[in-house]
Amino acid sequence: MSITAQATPNIALIKYWGNRNNDLRLPAGDSFSMTLDQPVVEITVDHSPTLVVDSYEMDGTLKILTEKHITRFQKHLDLTKKYLTKLGKAQAIPESVKLSIRSKIPPSIGLASSAAVFGCLAKAYSGLIEKEIALDLRQQSVIGRLGSGSAARSLYGGYAALWAKSGDEIDSSYSEQIADENHWNLHDIIIVPSHEEKKVGSTEGHATAWSSPHYEKRLEAIRTRRQQECIDAVLKHDFEKLQAVVEEDALDMHNVMMTSTPSLKYLTDETYRIMDEIDELKGNGLEVLYTMDAGPTVHLFCTDAARAQVVDYAKSQKNCTIFEAKVGPGACILL
Ligand code: DP6
Repeated sequence: MSITAQATPNIALIKYWGNRNNDLRLPAGDSFSMTLDQPVVEITVDHSPTLVVDSYEMDGTLKILTEKHITRFQKHLDLTKKYLTKLGKAQAIPESVKLSIRSKIPPSIGLASSAAVFGCLAKAYSGLIEKEIALDLRQQSVIGRLGSGSAARSLYGGYAALWAKSGDEIDSSYSEQIADENHWNLHDIIIVPSHEEKKVGSTEGHATAWSSPHYEKRLEAIRTRRQQECIDAVLKHDFEKLQAVVEEDALDMHNVMMTSTPSLKYLTDETYRIMDEIDELKGNGLEVLYTMDAGPTVHLFCTDAARAQVVDYAKSQKNCTIFEAKVGPGACILL
């Protein structure tokens, strides 16, 4: 029997950057995010004698996946089996699987497609093996994390933390929900200044983090203060505090990226211009904040009250693509 799951990207408010174990994607620091309500990824998983990955474009045409992509899915399946072995259920998952992936996320535009894809896959695998072992959300988040660190957070709706914890066990790090999607209706208005495929993907990028002289200070700030400040701001609906800590963390991550070897410069002149203009709008009392991942795309988080004005600003941008999303419900099985 096949199982279909659905998931969406999440955008980090406190960023995950760098691992203590690259192989198992055990993060070096905590992170915290908001799960979006769109765009969605759907994956159908079925038994198969060998791994087959069919991925479809938004218009339904079959996408040719690279060897690197296929290897990543195979490795994720192998690690999932390893985790289930630890849980005493090695036989729960089939020898191999056929995956049919239908994604509404345009590639490499700064919308975390790997988070949605592996969050979705973790949900689908959990559904497939449900009769053998009922995995709780924390265990499902471990399976997501094994494919893409940030995917651990897409299992949950609303606001989720990925806890680094310590240790080198496959399940040493996991994520949990801090508040659900009904807690605070924040929006993410996304401005994509460039559709160029990014040069260095997150997986390769994470491996450079430790070479930055600022990285350990970053980890300490998150551990001792920033993660908790961000969580508190969300729990208290305190947009001013949220804006201060989220922007501080995004700029700090980009400082680490730029000062690592090799230097990773993801932000462009367009990104900096948008940040400056948003600073001006904030100065006029608008509840908006910016954050950027491993690319020039700017995520403008804002409250209900600020949304219309932020959308107007985004739409006034020339040569940019705009997406609108808000806080969403997280991954689920489709019946
Ligand atoms: C900058 O989860 O994409 O978006 O585990 O290699 O897939 P992999 O990395 P990924 O890294 C996310 C980096 C980030 C920040 C974040 O989402 O926390």
